[in-house]
Parts: sequence; structure tokens; C-alpha cells
Amino acid sequence: MSSKLTGYESQDQQVTVNFVDSKLELFVITPTIVRIFKNRGRSDNSYAIDGDKTQKTPYEVIKADNGIKLQTDNLTLKIDGDEKIDVYDAKGNPLVLDYRQSREPLPTDMDAEHRKTVGAEGHDVGDLNHGESNYYEVIKALSADEQFYGLGDKTGFLNKRGYEYGNWNSDVPQVHTEAMTKLYKTIPVLYGIKNNHPYGLFFDNTYKSHFDIGKESDAYYFYSAVDGNLDYYILGGDSLQEVVANYTYLTGRVPLPQKWLLGYQQSRWGYSVSDQRVREIADGFAKYDLPLDVIHLDIDYMTGYRDFTWDESKYADPKAFVAEMGRRGIRLMPILDAGVKKDDDYDIYKEGIEKDYFAKSPDGRAYVNQVWPGDAVFPDFARKEVRDWWAKHIKFYTDLGACGIWNDMNEPASFKGPLPDDIVFHNGEEVSDHRRMHNVFGHNMARAAYDGLKAATGKRPYVITRAAYSGTQKYSTVWTGDNQSLWSHLQMAIPQLSNLGLSGFAFAGTDIGGFQANTTAELLTRWLEASLFVPLFRNHAQMGVRYQEPWSFGEPTLSIYRKFLKLRYRFVPYLYDQFYQETQNGLPVMRPLVLNDDQDPKVRNINDEYMVGDTILVAPIVEQGADKRLVYLPAGDWIDFNSQAEYGGHTMIIVDAPIDTLPIFIKKNTILPWGQAVKHISDQPDRFMTFRLLGSQASYDHYQDDGLDFNYQHGEYNLYHVAIDANQQITINLTKHGYPATYEKIFIESNHDCIEFDFDQQNQTYIRQ
Ligand code: GLC
Repeated sequence: MSSKLTGYESQDQQVTVNFVDSKLELFVITPTIVRIFKNRGRSDNSYAIDGDKTQKTPYEVIKADNGIKLQTDNLTLKIDGDEKIDVYDAKGNPLVLDYRQSREPLPTDMDAEHRKTVGAEGHDVGDLNHGESNYYEVIKALSADEQFYGLGDKTGFLNKRGYEYGNWNSDVPQVHTEAMTKLYKTIPVLYGIKNNHPYGLFFDNTYKSHFDIGKESDAYYFYSAVDGNLDYYILGGDSLQEVVANYTYLTGRVPLPQKWLLGYQQSRWGYSVSDQRVREIADGFAKYDLPLDVIHLDIDYMTGYRDFTWDESKYADPKAFVAEMGRRGIRLMPILDAGVKKDDDYDIYKEGIEKDYFAKSPDGRAYVNQVWPGDAVFPDFARKEVRDWWAKHIKFYTDLGACGIWNDMNEPASFKGPLPDDIVFHNGEEVSDHRRMHNVFGHNMARAAYDGLKAATGKRPYVITRAAYSGTQKYSTVWTGDNQSLWSHLQMAIPQLSNLGLSGFAFAGTDIGGFQANTTAELLTRWLEASLFVPLFRNHAQMGVRYQEPWSFGEPTLSIYRKFLKLRYRFVPYLYDQFYQETQNGLPVMRPLVLNDDQDPKVRNINDEYMVGDTILVAPIVEQGADKRLVYLPAGDWIDFNSQAEYGGHTMIIVDAPIDTLPIFIKKNTILPWGQAVKHISDQPDRFMTFRLLGSQASYDHYQDDGLDFNYQHGEYNLYHVAIDANQQITINLTKHGYPATYEKIFIESNHDCIEFDFDQQNQTYIRQ
């Protein structure tokens, strides 16, 4: 075959490969990240990646048979005369190989006429190109053993092989099963392990796109998009951890949260109908001795579902009420919806219309659809001016004392049919359309909330968003939307959150107990247990479904719930340390076992266990009626947290787990920071800290700051190195002292004793008492 490759040019770290009638650009970002770009007529700005991530990287371009070879220390890309690209690691192992044949769509008994008929009822008819002329596909060869992870919050199982997924942010109130290919977020990062070699692919394109991961064929997997440039990144690395760290290097890491975000949060659509109702919930927590940090206020606190309003006929004095809750240690988190009520007497609507801030119909008028407030319009959030406007209004909430902003309906959801493709949105300052901007609507709304909270309070913003795109993790935590009180949804929570973590979203959670449908005592209890280490630890339910507050089912559910809430608070310092680590290493806190050992084939399909960092393994019961289960223990020695029994790794064991028991295993020879038994996480510095030794010797690095603001970025934090050697000699070193409020006392606890150390101000050391 004659080569169409006519030559190449390189400048700095960009290599342009010329073909007879096209060209491909390769950008060497780092030795383990290469961007592949082909202009297909669209501007090439990115919402996922901020700034230029290019690091000075040596590389070579060599002429090869029928093409060229681009080589860094870690990756080799071979580009042939047919524009096909093959990627190998430094040792020559294939990672990503272009598929040379054509796709062979699955056989179907549906002809074009029937496609229309079947599609008319709303069924999925596998129409990938949606009639778009700029549609394209990227098809890669599949190996027999290749496994896949990532893609954000998609349904189904941890390993994505054998399934297809769509990227078009969708409000999905139906049951989320593995047949549901689209949910609320678009996070097009796919990790593969091919013949034991991990790699990643990140497709940075906001148009509607699709992944078929070996569903159609065992010979290939493919990505397709209805439009946009071809713009994707090869992510290399010696381990899956390095590959994931490369992805979060590109798209950003979850910033340190305020510490109290790690506390328990209670929500229900319905609490916010009045201050009295919210007070009742707070009273319930006090009465039943249950720790609580946040109560969420769903849409009813607003006046007629108008954003930036607080109905004073339901709340006598919102500001005084928020303050009253604050004195009780409880923070309030209001929801904020994407659709702005169309109402000529409503200042936000009027201002937005006057300043031309809403998306428009092609005829130039603000586009109207319906959401909770009835007729509603949609801010054009990708414009900086619009985000700044929205951010400025966030002060309304912070002035009243709200602790953050919970963004919702920002796919955007619309009750009167989907927004048409041609609705005019902007891409920055450039005129664009809904087709291009849909998947980043939620991203830009979250960013505006982040900026507004930061400007108004100077604190680390607490933002939750339902819709997101790659990179939204820099601004917001996420939840997985409207799940249901079903065992299958509890089961799905673990792979869904694990994949979100691999996809950059280290701060995520599901609605504990299930949002829609009626929960049961058993399901609620098991869901809470399974979520013990889930960063966003929130029970949320739909209006009208069975109550699922901790006391709703009486005993023994209440006591078990209390036991686990109290246990969560013991682990808060560990979780906070994990978030500090995450900012440094880009790895999620809650993670699938495969992230910690991608070479162990036994962990590649585990859906019902997860790890927290690399020392805690959690194996919850996620099956109705079960009171024991199989647990796979990966490499290392393990201590059963409940029984103290010890086990070797690489084994499958059976553990008992009656309804009040969550199987937790701690890697032998670990030190855990052990939080105090508090009802709420205070803004005041902790005066004491306990470290627990599990095993006989260990060391641990612990992070401390004020847990609130950005002063840590100017060095106001402490690092402690705690070590216990084989002779039980304990050393505590303050290896970094930038935050004045060091612990006055540190306790070192083991099975047999508890030893106290006091801080000696003068010598800046801890002295054994
Ligand atoms: C959406 C949200 C849900 C919220 C409800 C009412 O369904 O996903 O969490 O309670 O709207 O605001």
C-alpha cells in the first residue's frame, strides 16, 4: 500500500505529521502524556484542562517503514501512512493500537423503516451518528484479556468491558440499570489494562459522544462523537496509579475540602418547607445522640422556586435561623437550580434579560423551557461575564450564613422536551450552540458557584453538582443523582463511586438509603455501612417516599445507625489525611482494589469491596438477607478491624457480618489517626490527637491545618511523622510546622496500652509523659 504520509515538521514539543490531504498534530505534554489532535473545523479550547500542562520533555522523531515513530522515555507512537497510530510503552509492549479493519455492527433485524418505527416510542435504536455529517469514530484493537475502567459515574459494573455508554448529560429519573447508557455526567476518560499493561485515553470533546467497549466486537473497542475536533490524550505510566495521576495532572485534582464536609449530612426533599421542619430534624439528631454536620435544604425554601430567594413566609428570619443552627453545630446547604424562573417581576430574571445572559433561540429571544418554577430560562454559563454575575449573587446565600451551594438540574434538565440543538449558547465569547455546550453547562455552573463562594467567604468552597464534565472536580463534589431504594443500586454504588474516583472525582457520594422508592430498615442500614468511608456521606430521599431518617425504623436500626455514625467520625482525620495525599498524588480516596494492585488479576472484577487509601479494605454486605460473605484479601497481611483476627493476603475468606457488622480490614502494621467522639466537626483546632497502632510496628504521616480556608497554600499547615519500631520505640516528629495550633497532647494507642506525649513549646517536640 502506498503511504499517504508526505513528511513532518516539529517545533518545540509539537510534531505535525502531513498526509496527502490532511494533517495530524502530536503534542508531547510529558514523557507519559501525548496529545493527538486533528482539526475538524472547531475551536480547540478545553473545559477540562486549565492552562498549558506541557513540561519540557526530550523526545525523538524517527522515520520508520511506511511512517514515523515519535518516542519519549516512556511512550512510542508509530504513525503509519494510513494515519493509523499505534502506541507502545518503553519496553515495546502494545498499549493502544488502531484497528485496521472496518467495524462490523451487530446483526440486527431492524431495517431503516423499522428503525424509525422502533425509535418513535423512544427506544434506543443504536443510532450513533444522529444524522450528523461531522461524525467520526476512533477504533482501537482489543486483546482477549483487556479490561476497562473509568468513564465517571456510568451504570453497571467496575469493569466496563462488554458495555456501551453515551455521553450526553441526562436527568434520569428512571431506574439506573446497566442498560441505561447515559447518566448525569460526561467524563470521557477510559483506562485499559492490556496484557497486564495499564494505559489511559482521554477524549476531550464536549459534543455528544459514545464508547463501545467490546460490546459490538471482541476484536475492537471504539469511541465516536457526532462532531468536534479529534482531540485525545494517550496516558501512560508504569502502573494504573501513575496513569490515573497523569489524568488528574491534566484535568486537575479535588482541592482540600473544609474538614467538616467529611461529617454526616442529612437531606430530604421536603425538610426545607419551613424552619420548623428543619428544626425538628435537628432535634431528632440531638434527641437520639446522633452526630450531624449538615442539613440540606431542597427547593422548598425558595419563593416559588426562584433562585436566590428565601421564602420568609416559611422562615421567619432566615439569617437568624441559619445562625441558630450554626450554634447547634449544624450547617445548612441550600440547593440552587439551573433554570431561572421567567417572571418579569423577579430581579434575577430581569437583570439576566437586560444584560443578555440567557441562552437564546435562533430568533434572538431568550429560550424558554420548563423546570420546577414553570417557565424558565438558562444562563449561558460558559461566558465569563455570566459566571461572574452568578458568582456575585452567591453572596445572597453566604450573607445568610449558608455553608455551600448544591447545584441541581444542570444537565440542564428540562420538562418540556429536550433543548433543541440550535439553541444559542456561547463557547467563551464565541457564538456556539447547545450541541456543543450541553455537556459543560453543569461544569460552568459549578465553577460559578465555586468562584462566588470563594470570593464571598475566603473559605474552601463546598459545592455539589449533579451534572459535570472532566475537570469539574476542581470546583465541586458530586453525587450520582436520583438512585432508588433498591439493592441493585446499593450494589452499583461501589463500582460507580470507584470509577468516579478513577475519573478524577475523589469527592463523591450516592444518596444513602436511596432517593426514589421506599427503603427498608435492612437496606438503609447496609447502605450506611457500605458508605462508611464514602467522602460525601449524605442520606437523601425524595418527597413522598418512606421516611429514612436514622430513627424512622426504631430499634435496632437506630442503634446500629448511631454506632456507624460515631465510627465515621473516628475515621475523619484519616479521610482528611487521604485528601491531603490526593492533592499531592492525584489518586482517589475511595478506590477499587485494582488501583492498588493492577497486576493481580483477581481484583480486576471486584464490585463489592473497596479500599480507602492503601491501608483500609471495606467489604460491605450488599445483598438482602445475607449475614456472611466472601472477601478477597489482596497482597499483604490483614487485620480484621472487628475481631482483630489476622489473615495473609491473596486469599478468599468467609466473614460473618450480621446486620450490625461492617467487615473492615486494616493492612497489618498500620498507624491510623483516630478522631474524637464528637457530634459535629468544629471550626476550632483539635487540641489532642490519638494514633492507633494495628500490628507491631509502623509509621505514618499526618497532616493538620485549620480545615477551613486557603492559608495552607501559604504554608500554614503541620506535618507529623509518627513511628513505632520493632522495639516499641515511639518517635513523633513535627516535620513541618507552619500552623500555630499544634496538638497539645498526642496519644499512641496499641492493643495493650495508651501512651501520652505532651508538646514542649520551647523545643517544638513531643515528650513522653
Ligand atoms: C432532583 C435532584 C434531587 C432533588 C430534587 C428536588 O431530582 O436530583 O436530589 O431532591 O430534584 O430538588
